Amino acid sequence: MSTPFLSIQDVKKSFGGKAILDGIDLNVERGHITTIMGKSGIGKSVLLKCIAGVHQPDSGQILIDGRPCVGAHCGPDGPRLSYLFQGNALFDSLTALENVALPLVETTRIRPRAANRQALKLFEQLDLGDIAGKYPSQISGGMQKRVALARALITRPQLILFDEPTAGLDPQRKNGVFTMVAEYGKRFDFTALMVSHDIPEALFVSDRVAWMDRGQIRFCGAPTDLELARDPNLLEFIHHRNELLSDLAGQQGRTALFAHWPELRRSYDHFVVASCETERRRPGSDLGLRRFASYQAAVAAITALPQKHSQIYFLDERHFGFGLGGSDVAALTADVDAALQAVNTQTAQAHVTRYRWSSRTYLLADVPNPASLWILEDQAAVAAPLSPA
Ligand SMILES: Nc1ncnc2c1ncn2[C@@H]1O[C@H](COP(=O)(O)OP(=O)(O)O)[C@@H](O)[C@H]1O
Ligand SMILES: [Mg+2]
Repeated sequence: MSTPFLSIQDVKKSFGGKAILDGIDLNVERGHITTIMGKSGIGKSVLLKCIAGVHQPDSGQILIDGRPCVGAHCGPDGPRLSYLFQGNALFDSLTALENVALPLVETTRIRPRAANRQALKLFEQLDLGDIAGKYPSQISGGMQKRVALARALITRPQLILFDEPTAGLDPQRKNGVFTMVAEYGKRFDFTALMVSHDIPEALFVSDRVAWMDRGQIRFCGAPTDLELARDPNLLEFIHHRNELLSDLAGQQGRTALFAHWPELRRSYDHFVVASCETERRRPGSDLGLRRFASYQAAVAAITALPQKHSQIYFLDERHFGFGLGGSDVAALTADVDAALQAVNTQTAQAHVTRYRWSSRTYLLADVPNPASLWILEDQAAVAAPLSPA
C-alpha cells in the first residue's frame, strides 16, 4: 500500500482533564473521500480542528504527505489544506466573489484585484458566474454551500476537511452537495476528509468510512464493509439506517450485475435469486439488525456451497443473486434450498420476526439482461407467492 496522504497517529486531546480524543489512528489515501461518523459531541469537530491547526493535540502525530504538519504550520511549500466549516461562515458584508477571493488575499501576497480575477475564473468553472456579485443573503442555501465550497477550493488545496457540509439541507440538496464533493474531488484533485451524519447519502460518495466512539476510531473500512461490522455500539449507531445500508449494497450490486451480465451468461448456466419473506409477528426494535443478521447468514450459506458459483450480487434488502454452473438444475436447486433452509431453521424462534429465505433459478440463456430478470421475478412472485410460515 502507498503512503497515506494523511496519517493520524495516536492523537490525544483533552479539555479540562476530560479526554476527547484518546488515541486516534486514521489513514486517508490520496484522492479518497473518507467520511467520519459518530455520535454528536464525540469529538469529530475537535479532530478536524486538530488537523487544521485550530487545536494543538496534546500528543500524537499528524502527517500530511509523510511530513509532520498541523494546519497552518505546514510551511510555505507544505501541502495545502482547507477547511469547510460547519455552517458556511460566509461574510454577509462581502459579495460571493469577495468571499471566495478572501483566502487568497489573506494567505498569499496576491493583490485584491488579481485575487478577484482568479475567483471569477473559478466561478465560471463552477457555473456560478451569475451570482458572483450577489451577497450571501441574496442567494439560496444550496448556492451558499457552493460558494463556501468554491472558497475552500480557491487556494487549490490538496486536502479539504468538511465538517458536516450538509447540515440543515433538505435530502435533495444533501445529495447535491455530496455529488459536488465527489465531482470536484476528481476535477480539482483533492483528498477529502468529511464528517457527516447523513447515512447512507454520504456513503455513496465515500471510499472509506470511519466510525469514532469513546475517543478512538473503532471501525474503518469500505462502506459495504459495514455489513460485516460486529461492534454492538456501531450496530446500534447504524441500526436505524441499516435498511438504507442494504440499499447501498444493493445499488452497487445492481450496477455490478448489469456490468457483469454478459460475462455471467458466458460463464454460468443459471442465475439464482434468493429472496427473503418476512413474517412480522412482533415489530421488535431490533428488527433491522435481525434482518441484517439473517441476510448475512443466507449469503454465508451460499458462499460456502461447493458448486461453482459467481460472486454474490446484493440486489436490495431482501434479495441477492448469483450465477451458478452445472446442468442438473434440479440437483443444484435442491442444494441451494438446503443451504438456505439451514439459515431459516436457525433464525426461526417463537414470538420473534422470522425471515424465510427461498430461491428461484433462471436459465441464463433465457435472460438477455437483468432488467428482464426483474420482470420474470415479479411474474413468478405473483403466480406463486411464497407460502406463509
Ligand atoms: N474549545 C473547547 N473547549 C472545551 N471543550 C471543547 C472545546 N471544543 C470541543 N469541546 C468539547 O469536546 C467534545 C466534542 O466536541 P465536538 O468535536 O464538537 O463534537 P462532535 O463530534 O459533535 O463534532 C464536546 O464535549 C465539547 O464540549
Ligand atoms: Mg461537530
